[in-house]
Amino acid sequence: MSSGMIGWWMLIVLVGSVLGQNEVDTTENDIPQEEDQDEASWFQIDDEDGELTVPELITKYGYRVESHAVISSDGYMLTVFRIAPRQPPEKSQYPVLMVHGLMTSAADYVITGPNNSLAYLLADRGYEVWLANMRGTRYSKGHTSITPDSPEYWDFSWHEMGYYDLPAIIDYIRATSNVSKVHYVGHSQGTTVYFVMSSSRPEYNEKIALMTALSPAVILKRIRSPIGRLTLDLVESLKQLLQALEIYDVFAYNKNYHQLAKSICPKEEKESICYRLVSQICGPNPDAYDRKLMLAFLGHAPAGASVKQLMHFIQLNRSGLFRRYDYGKKGNLQTYSNWKPPSYNLTAASAPVLIYYALNDWLVHPRDVQQFARKLPRVVGLNPVGDKQFNHLDFITAKTAREQLYDKLMPVLDGFND
Ligand SMILES: *[C@@H]1O[C@H](CO)[C@@H](O)[C@H](O)[C@H]1NC(C)=O
Ligand SMILES: *[C@@H]1O[C@H](CO)[C@@H](O)[C@H](O)[C@H]1NC(C)=O
Ligand SMILES: *[C@@H]1O[C@H](CO)[C@@H](O)[C@H](O)[C@H]1NC(C)=O
Ligand SMILES: *[C@@H]1O[C@H](CO)[C@@H](O)[C@H](O)[C@H]1NC(C)=O
Repeated sequence: MSSGMIGWWMLIVLVGSVLGQNEVDTTENDIPQEEDQDEASWFQIDDEDGELTVPELITKYGYRVESHAVISSDGYMLTVFRIAPRQPPEKSQYPVLMVHGLMTSAADYVITGPNNSLAYLLADRGYEVWLANMRGTRYSKGHTSITPDSPEYWDFSWHEMGYYDLPAIIDYIRATSNVSKVHYVGHSQGTTVYFVMSSSRPEYNEKIALMTALSPAVILKRIRSPIGRLTLDLVESLKQLLQALEIYDVFAYNKNYHQLAKSICPKEEKESICYRLVSQICGPNPDAYDRKLMLAFLGHAPAGASVKQLMHFIQLNRSGLFRRYDYGKKGNLQTYSNWKPPSYNLTAASAPVLIYYALNDWLVHPRDVQQFARKLPRVVGLNPVGDKQFNHLDFITAKTAREQLYDKLMPVLDGFND
């Protein structure tokens, strides 16, 4: 059985559960009777944006883009896209490294098009922008000595992304752009990997001007999403089966996703399965949801993940501890010379951190974020997004993201260019 098949099978189970929930949640699924958005989108985007590659997209909207190949010290070949600043800044600014979430890609930061996407807004402001693609996702599936068909390739979780991928990318940017520091912007898993790095390779804190954490996913005690919880249970109980079937990765990128999304969720349908899925996974926010944008987004996601990476998230929730992968007592003894996996030392994460969280985030609960922030030595801001309905995905896809979030965070970032 291929990883694509297991991905779709899981999706069908999830969709089934959403449809099953529909009756209970009708009040939350109410979509305002606004103007007809059958064809139009609130964003400056086209249908084809779901089919273009990230460099094609960036070029299309008039920005200069380069693809860079970065090799981690354990041999993973990562693609990082660099967007040149639209205009030179008045005074020197550090480059911005942007890191995507679980099962997504660099597309996250450009998908809402010009005048809305954070990557473009930063480039308009004179920043050089680097968009990372973590190992195992669509644009980063190479390795110097093993192929993605082998189980060895997929033997990683978000630990390795933080421990190997990020340092390699940061050093590459510093060398290429001749700078001492970079700004970091991460969403969801893009923050998890950052805190792995900043706690287990603390020398990298000096190389970070400001870490902007959007919905930091480090404490996951209060997951409100029924599908989120169901997925955790499902993957956990499927672990043995996945092993027996020799499935090590799930939800690999497939070029048919966009077509499939368009046929399952026709643009004229307000309460499409896509809308319900996003609402049930991330939190309902009908006013910020754009149907055309979501179809374009679903042309780029999911972009792949290892089973071990999902398991590590499950462990994060089950143990309530931010620590290394748990192999069980025997495996831990072999790997760590201890019964228990070592915890990440967040006290060592000394670079300044600016946090934004969302009140209607059904994956990362506001109280989990507040509790997490108390563990960090240098929080320069801990802000809820003003829109009380803002959900987990809205950081990337909301119509209100620019006004509610990006326009607020960019001036703070400007203040950290020394
Ligand atoms: C962005 O919006 C401004 C007006 O706010 C407009 O002049 C400009 O053309 C827009 N940019 C793009 C790329 O459409
Ligand atoms: C790199 O930057 C330093 C200090 O900003 C400067 O002295 C040096 O000439 C630069 N090197 C290159 C190759 O541009
Ligand atoms: C894991 O998440 C579930 C669902 O939100 C929660 O009930 C449980 O307490 C969490 N586990 C820990 C250890 O916090
Ligand atoms: C955690 O990091 C802090 C700051 O670097 C250090 O003082 C402390 O000893 C570390 N704790 C452990 C358990 O390693």
